[in-house]
Amino acid sequence: CGIIAHVGDRRALDPVVSGLEKLEYRGYDSAGLAVQNGHGLDVWKCSGEVSELKETVDDVETSANVGIGHTRWSTHGPPTDRNAHPHTDSEGRVAVVHNGIVENYDELRESLRDRGHVFTSDTDTEVIPHLVAAYLDEGYDPRAAVEASVDELEGSYAIAAVVEDEEAVYAARQGSPLVMGIDDDRYFLASDVPAFLDHTAEVCYLEDGDFAAVRPDDVTIENGDGERVERDVERVDWQPEETGKGQYEHFMLKEIFSQPTSLKKTIEGRIDSGAEPALEDIDASTLADVERVRLVGSGTSYHAALFGAALLNQSGVSARAIRASEYDVNTGDPEPNTLFVAVTQSGETADTLGALRRAKRNGIDTIAVTNVVQSTAARIAETPLYIRAGPEIGVAATKTFSSQAVMLTLLSQVVADAADGASTVDDVERLMTDLERLPESVEEVLASSDAEAVATHYLGKDAFFFIGRGIGCSVAKEGALKFKEITYEHAEGFASGELKHGPLALVTEDTPIVAVCTRSGERTVKNAMEAQTRGAPIVAVAPAGHEAVSEADAHLSVPDVHPVCRSLLANVQLQLLSYHCAATLGRAIDKPRNLAKSVTVE
Ligand code: G6P
Repeated sequence: CGIIAHVGDRRALDPVVSGLEKLEYRGYDSAGLAVQNGHGLDVWKCSGEVSELKETVDDVETSANVGIGHTRWSTHGPPTDRNAHPHTDSEGRVAVVHNGIVENYDELRESLRDRGHVFTSDTDTEVIPHLVAAYLDEGYDPRAAVEASVDELEGSYAIAAVVEDEEAVYAARQGSPLVMGIDDDRYFLASDVPAFLDHTAEVCYLEDGDFAAVRPDDVTIENGDGERVERDVERVDWQPEETGKGQYEHFMLKEIFSQPTSLKKTIEGRIDSGAEPALEDIDASTLADVERVRLVGSGTSYHAALFGAALLNQSGVSARAIRASEYDVNTGDPEPNTLFVAVTQSGETADTLGALRRAKRNGIDTIAVTNVVQSTAARIAETPLYIRAGPEIGVAATKTFSSQAVMLTLLSQVVADAADGASTVDDVERLMTDLERLPESVEEVLASSDAEAVATHYLGKDAFFFIGRGIGCSVAKEGALKFKEITYEHAEGFASGELKHGPLALVTEDTPIVAVCTRSGERTVKNAMEAQTRGAPIVAVAPAGHEAVSEADAHLSVPDVHPVCRSLLANVQLQLLSYHCAATLGRAIDKPRNLAKSVTVE
């Protein structure tokens, strides 16, 4: 979900609506906003996308300068008008937008019901405005009423609240992101910087436990112990145009095509002139005595973790990638000398944060590979490693996967270098040189029309199977995930050798096999041919001249560089394949149904 709020000397409605448009990638089931009109609150909300809300409020004449807005990804209750935020108390004196989960909402609701409060939605959020109203009835002033209500909440949340007759937004943060934007004559609060980046790049990150009272001319922040605190104000280096689509039809296409630039930023200063990885971001003590590495992530970031784990294992460092949502049931207490690496683009995925917090409690060294400066993961981990890919708006991750994989490649070599007895991956010097040249190699892939042609030819088949081995397997799995996320067609990714142990039963002439072949002499070709014998067409993702190409029915070409870089380039071809299939099918590419970019509930 996404939150935006505006307080200042100017009309609130427009920046709140445009903020919601920028935050829509965080959820697009329903949207709503409330403004403080000087003598009460006006609330508009509806199921559906922000564009529908925008139509409703387009002709509204209001000079209200205080407003809050919300775009929702449903957790409690279906995406209906009445479940949309903001939620209010029965008399409409208080309006609240909320991101996260109120874990004790059942008992709070019962206690409020006993006091005569009537609830009209299925959400956990609705208890908050009712609690505030109950405190107002007891004679608390608005600020104290919101603060006392927040104190009663258990769970994770970011909240913005407005109270009638009060020219202020009250905000609290506990486990969900909330950042303040500071312009000359106004303040913003939002789940993420792009929401207000058109207006200001001066930001102040609230910390867990903070409670802020934001008025047109002044802000006060209290920490979890009720002490007045100042939080640092900094300038973010994202540019406003990075949050727009530019000349592209979709954010996803823009982000695929921006990979030469984003990768350049990821790599900048991290390979020294002797073609050695140089990660000054990490303290030598974190690298000392590492005997094993656990890489944890969700969705696409889990596939980047698989990629990193495969490279570490090839370099002789024992490593395992674990799905964040499975971490607590799949791992015992970590042994000493384990390095924990959280991989998360947003730095806010609840499953990943849960695993990271657990690792930290167990006292092992933690690193967060993330794109978002000051994100929760970046703050929890001892070492944040920023991938510097710039804002990613398309729900399906593309450029951030590439940058995470590159970052993990560098990290794996640095860890291997420092570990006793480990070597580095084969031909490491060539790997580093080819990594430095990766932006140009990506340009080459982007210039080819292979993926579009394959998409047109094979669209309409029953299912698409992606196979690969080693790091090629992580790319195959990511290719399949991307494909199903944005085309809604059936796709699966397998380790190529596993095809014959079950999935082969599904193979027919209507199930293309997309084979990621990035090394020569690898078994993937043989495995693909076993499917071909059963009628399946083969699409080889390989350099020209690779033995897979002569056997295949179609070819997605990648430059003939180090196998690790070939895998990264194969992934770019698969991004394009998914994109062109989804575009032909007319899918909602940037906002696929039922998904959200950042899932802040477990
Ligand atoms: C959501 C998104 C996925 C993403 C995953 C992890 O499920 O829909 O595209 O890969 O979260 O996100 P993170 O921000 O932790 O990388």
